[in-house]
Amino acid sequence: MPDLSALPPGFTWGVATSAYQIEGAVDVDGRKPSIWDTFCRVPGAIDNGDTGDVACDHYHRWPQDVDLLRRLGVDAYRFSIAWPRILPDGTGTPNPPGLAFYDRLIDNLLAAGIEPLVTLYHWDLPQALQEKGGWPSRDTAAAFASYAEIVAGAYGDRVKTWNTVNEPLCSAWIGHLEGKMAPGERDLRRAIDTSHHLLLGHGLATQAIRAAASRPAQVGIVFNLSPIEPGTDRPEDVAAAVRADGHTNRWWLDPVFGRGYPADMLDVYGMEPPVHSGDLDVIATPTDLLGINYYFRQVVVDAPDAAAPYARQVEVPGSSTTAMDWEVYADGLEQTLVRVHEEYAPARIMVTESGSAWYDEVTLTEVVDDKDRTKYNDDHIQAVARAAARGVPVDGYFVWSLLDNFEWAYGYDKRFGLVHVDYKTQKRTLKESGRRYADLIESFKHPA
Ligand code: IFM
Repeated sequence: MPDLSALPPGFTWGVATSAYQIEGAVDVDGRKPSIWDTFCRVPGAIDNGDTGDVACDHYHRWPQDVDLLRRLGVDAYRFSIAWPRILPDGTGTPNPPGLAFYDRLIDNLLAAGIEPLVTLYHWDLPQALQEKGGWPSRDTAAAFASYAEIVAGAYGDRVKTWNTVNEPLCSAWIGHLEGKMAPGERDLRRAIDTSHHLLLGHGLATQAIRAAASRPAQVGIVFNLSPIEPGTDRPEDVAAAVRADGHTNRWWLDPVFGRGYPADMLDVYGMEPPVHSGDLDVIATPTDLLGINYYFRQVVVDAPDAAAPYARQVEVPGSSTTAMDWEVYADGLEQTLVRVHEEYAPARIMVTESGSAWYDEVTLTEVVDDKDRTKYNDDHIQAVARAAARGVPVDGYFVWSLLDNFEWAYGYDKRFGLVHVDYKTQKRTLKESGRRYADLIESFKHPA
């Protein structure tokens, strides 16, 4: 069991999910398509031709999932709200059944003693807004703020902690530059515009949530960050690592912490984001917490022919990897937490996602003995405790994910859950890693 003595009392233990990855029911109760519904229809975009149409059917099975949360003993549950359920056309009048779904979920979580931690944008932009220009259009940032105002008005009497945007890097770089996520574009200009409007949307939404919520709100954005190292000592590779750090980490952190966009990256991209007067102040609206999602480090070499930032990840000899082919490197979580604390000093940090996919097997006696995941979680939690011992104000940890779910372009083969989902029957089975996490939470709360 990890030594948790350095973690602050009241540390929040949780699990995380997102709407499109678990809810299913994509055309139920007035929900209209998001860009992910559309992207899933693009031939070859998603492994096995999978879609989020049914996913874990959480929209109908949420009471069972709240029971699972109770069984895990978590303090908090981080989930996202589907913008196309609340505003099927992206703007306008809210859809009552959509609002009612999260209303019930929040009430039942609170009744179970579980704090709801709400993410507003986990990549499911209403398709109607995509057709009006999507994130490359400035209007989408304003639409996001209006949506945030509606949601905070509806749930801000009960929800205390809000994440505005989850992993804008994925929407901007993977969705608009690499073409591997919705909306599947490959255009640096549109990717840069998207990055700026996501950050602008975050700043506007932060202000909108505080104005609309009827109880004091703790608001922050969530970044997926990685430590970056050069693959060799060659000057070209060292320079590639600086660029990759700019692309993955500094491009996002710098503006939110009031430094504007990193000058070296403007040179790397050879273009400026579409900043209007006052935008950088909005983006730097003070936040209450920073969410950090951590999965892997990046070891990179120079790659002049690749897309920006012209760096390519290389394998680390001798390293072990998960089913995603991501290196297992728990020290990187400690390094990331310490670096963000020392260089940016957020008031509070939560590890809003950490987890791993493995090729799990269910035995005939319905046991999933996922030792790799258990060790992965233990080691990463230990890394958080080491960061806390070094003075990092980290006060929460959320395992990705509660359930096996729709892993975007990888479909359903990559399983991240503490709970196994049989997609044919929707049967949920708590994995051994889930039992271990429950024990760890219990031992933190009631040390022997
Ligand atoms: O499944 C995703 C999640 O939606 C965002 N963070 C990373 C997870 C694993 O890839």
